Amino acid sequence: NLIMRSTQTIGVLVPNLANPFFSMFIKGIQLASQDNKFIPIIFDANQNQALQNMYLEELIKRAANGLIIASATLDANDIDRILTRNGIPYLLFDQNDAQIGDRVWVDDYKGGQIAANYLLAAGHRKLTLLVPDDITQNIRQRIKGFESVMTKYRLAFSEEMMIKTPMTKLGGYQAVDQLIAKQSTAVFCINDEMAIGVYRGLQERGLRVPDDISVMGYDDIDLANFVAPKLTTIHQPAFEMGQVATELLIERIQNPRLPHQDKQLPLELVVRDSVKSNP
Ligand code: RIB
Repeated sequence: NLIMRSTQTIGVLVPNLANPFFSMFIKGIQLASQDNKFIPIIFDANQNQALQNMYLEELIKRAANGLIIASATLDANDIDRILTRNGIPYLLFDQNDAQIGDRVWVDDYKGGQIAANYLLAAGHRKLTLLVPDDITQNIRQRIKGFESVMTKYRLAFSEEMMIKTPMTKLGGYQAVDQLIAKQSTAVFCINDEMAIGVYRGLQERGLRVPDDISVMGYDDIDLANFVAPKLTTIHQPAFEMGQVATELLIERIQNPRLPHQDKQLPLELVVRDSVKSNP
């Protein structure tokens, strides 16, 4: 019958639609939704709790069949309370330390280790990290993994090595004076967007990547391969992450009693031209 077969809806909340990481994530969501005859409704609610609450409420009112929440503005327990009370299945991305419900993830701890190992093996010892103020669980793991390798090399890891700035191109750009003041040979940007902002700030001050300072990113967004020099980074399978998140959510919608599923996807070092050896 027609009603039974009508298209169903999933709501998606992401923190920043301007970041190509989330464009790929959403493309993955769209494809898996299409395959399963679902329609995604997508919202961007960065750092704006009122807006995110409003979108959540509207999605509930409009009887969304399930939600994918990749935005860390709301507390995971609050989300759980609101959605579970309304009987709506959901999948949390990036802040699932409580491992609530189904989970799609990459090993961020290992990702941080890969980045640190690469920089240290290239001979860098004076390192700076660009990190956000508001640290989600996956990013905390990324930093911890980085730290673990420094410790293995018997290098001190401290708060002073970190510059806090938004995870955007502008955030990276605005951190450049502080970065230069640290006199590091390399900077690990917690995402590629920040790294691209850093490039521009360095260039404006007459500094060259990687001759004056090496830059490493994280995500491997499409732009990483189009900036000069091409950005060395860690590849995250954003498209597949969106696809798998959607598949798990739809399975959950169709069969609420399924045991919880946990899918891990691989990360990969992508060596390009932004890190110098033997600085
Ligand atoms: O660039 C966006 C970042 O937010 C990614 O690294 C992803 O893991 C998410 O946390």
